[in-house]
Amino acid sequence: MVAFIRILICLGICLVQVARVSQAQSAKVDEATPDEAIAKLYTYNDVPDHDGIGKFYFGREISQVMGHLSAGWLERSSREVEEAPMKLMEALKLKPGMAVADIGAGSGYFTRRIARRIAPDGIVYAVDIQPEMIKILEANMKKHGLTNYRSVLNTEQDPKLAAESVDLVIMVDVYHEFAYPHEMMTAIRKALRPGGRVVFVEYRGEDVWVPIKPLHKMTQAQVKKEASAQGFKWIETLDVLPRQHIIVFEKEWDHMERGHSPPRSEMVILGNEKRRTATARLLGG
Ligand SMILES: C[S@@+](CC[C@H](N)C(=O)[O-])C[C@H]1O[C@@H](n2cnc3c(N)ncnc32)[C@H](O)[C@@H]1O
Repeated sequence: MVAFIRILICLGICLVQVARVSQAQSAKVDEATPDEAIAKLYTYNDVPDHDGIGKFYFGREISQVMGHLSAGWLERSSREVEEAPMKLMEALKLKPGMAVADIGAGSGYFTRRIARRIAPDGIVYAVDIQPEMIKILEANMKKHGLTNYRSVLNTEQDPKLAAESVDLVIMVDVYHEFAYPHEMMTAIRKALRPGGRVVFVEYRGEDVWVPIKPLHKMTQAQVKKEASAQGFKWIETLDVLPRQHIIVFEKEWDHMERGHSPPRSEMVILGNEKRRTATARLLGG
């Protein structure tokens, strides 16, 4: 009888141990750190596309960065016809005095056009990850006598903009090159002032006749999918350019971040979008 009781006690202890181990293991799975959760946003392929980096975000392969040796291509005269830059400037609704971030500014083709429209008191932050591009941009700004800008050499994960410092972020033909789109857009979101807008200008991925390599184009649906997961609300898409979409977003739930309750209309969005945006939000996006 005593032996039987001992066996029962041993069995009980074993069961408790097994339960503890499995509880600890499931807690480990649930408690992914923010870094681990961010890492899961990206997937990889060992055999990248010819123009890609083998890293995927929302099913899209990220493209290689256009090198500074191609800066001349950004200044080609045919751009006037192919991209109608004046139409883009009008669509941006620029006003004197605005603070604008031109992310992936390249040689400054758009930085110059923006600087003229927001002068004399407005400022453009010309942000680029290539020091050589920044040098080319600075030389071009000098050549055109423009001073209302600051060049910013950023990193792949950080646009190096101060919190709530800009009214408008414009990204022409660059977002698809971001090696860390989640990290960049999280920081860009923080840099926007209340009511600020972020504008994606991307070659139309839906249009096979646009003569640009596939990874350097984006469909409107893909841009919307990614931006909404990053905490942005779609405002409008303007298809006034010959080859590119102009897709405009604003920062979503700004009032909540400031500790206020959202207005009723936003409560509905909050309910509908909750599942889609939950991951981004948990990651501090
Ligand atoms: C195709 S060029 C476009 C330049 C300019 N927006 C234009 O349309 O004339 C892309 C530029 O984005 C820059 N770029 C790529 N990834 C970047 C990032 N994470 N942050 C800032 N610039 C980036 C590249 O260095 C390059 O100068």
